[in-house]
Amino acid sequence: MNGLTCQKFFVPEPVRLQRPGNSLTALASYRARTLAGTARVPGDKSISHRALIFGALSVGETVVTGLSRGDDVARTETALRHLGAEIQAPESDTRVVFGRGVGGLCEPASILDLGNSGTGVRLLMGVVASHRLAAYFTGDASLSTRPMDRVILPLRRMGADISARDGNLLPLIVAGAHSPVPIEYVLPVPSAQVKSAILLAALNTPGRTSVVEPVPSRDHTERMLAHFGAAITEGEDSDGRRHIAVEGEAELTGRAVAVPGDPSSAAFLVAAALAVPGSRVTIENVGTNPLRTGFFDTLREMGADIELSNVRAIGGESVADVTVRHGGLVGIEVPPERAPTMIDEYPVLAALAAGAEGRTVMRGVRELRVKESDRISAMTAGLRACGVTVDEFGDGLAVTGLGGPVPGAATVDARLDHRVAMSFLVLGMAAREPVVVDHAETIATSFPEFIDLITVLGAEVARAPRPRNASK
Ligand code: S3P
Repeated sequence: MNGLTCQKFFVPEPVRLQRPGNSLTALASYRARTLAGTARVPGDKSISHRALIFGALSVGETVVTGLSRGDDVARTETALRHLGAEIQAPESDTRVVFGRGVGGLCEPASILDLGNSGTGVRLLMGVVASHRLAAYFTGDASLSTRPMDRVILPLRRMGADISARDGNLLPLIVAGAHSPVPIEYVLPVPSAQVKSAILLAALNTPGRTSVVEPVPSRDHTERMLAHFGAAITEGEDSDGRRHIAVEGEAELTGRAVAVPGDPSSAAFLVAAALAVPGSRVTIENVGTNPLRTGFFDTLREMGADIELSNVRAIGGESVADVTVRHGGLVGIEVPPERAPTMIDEYPVLAALAAGAEGRTVMRGVRELRVKESDRISAMTAGLRACGVTVDEFGDGLAVTGLGGPVPGAATVDARLDHRVAMSFLVLGMAAREPVVVDHAETIATSFPEFIDLITVLGAEVARAPRPRNASK
């Protein structure tokens, strides 16, 4: 606690020109000649959320550069302002956060609307769970169908009082524990969001809280805990499970955070370059945290020519420039244990697999059913509409590649899922006939720069008249 008082203050709503769901945009993606050049992807979404949250929980000033400009991160920023953090925006991708210290956040006077962002809502629920305040959380139509029990259950064990809509869905209210208790929690699903929610709640909880991960998930929270000065220990037990422990009542100090480029955004440019004949593209400053690079490993096994150069470290994370050249790919069975390191890349992998030689099998990814959309169902329906044979399983899908351009000539609904939207635009770039993505404005949740960047590289994406019969 830093002794700051919570006074009533006015938090203006940010102006959103492209608020997802407001402007109904259908985009058509046409077969591209070649993609060539160098691009720089915007800041990593996962790290951006965390940098703002840690800044708000620190004493002093945190300067975040290279922040994601997507709507998801903007929602977290607005929520933190409602919780009392002062945040200045000198540039579109720079924020200066004047934190309130662990335990120092204020009860918000407004509902915290996290839009489409699962990371935003789950991490902030963790923060609030051990603060002496109550906060209402809500989200868009997609987020309001996503499971919140995975964070509600451990946070209740730490003492938070949480009431949710039937089925443990948003909207919900978190009344933070007055006397939070530390727990040891074995993650029932591999989820960095759940792990992070508990570790953030642990910061204002006396004693040592630990999370046990049977399968490692992205570790940005752990890295940031260390960077901001928390006492964190990590180890592995004889069964290979990761144990992460944090000492509570931590004092965090404001820091500088340089956010690396988002590998999950870079994945769409990489996939497009692999799909379109004759292409050669370099993407600079891409985060290469080993718990995020499973997609590159998979692509290499499929025969892709991908080279990492200028490998360096920024702000405790590794980054590199990624050069990729078009080349025929072959289908493989993706090892299920690799899933957590490429969980957000399955939709674009499925799109790429459609043009590969042979079958690509993606199993052990039931989690894809509870992302921004049911991604197994969305990719299956969209690929079939584009003329591709797909087998759908409870825990994944298998795509029979055509060994060349897919027919296309279909309209696919984005289902409020940015990654589904971008995957089908990439598919269209190497299809015989254009692919239309309806409600493509959802791309702005993570990667509002996507259309501009891919167009500069040579792709042709244009507004299409709103279709009447989009595949749902
Ligand atoms: C994220 C974790 C992953 C990922 C999401 C971002 C994070 O979700 O899919 O896009 O920033 O912690 P899960 O924790 O649900 O696996």
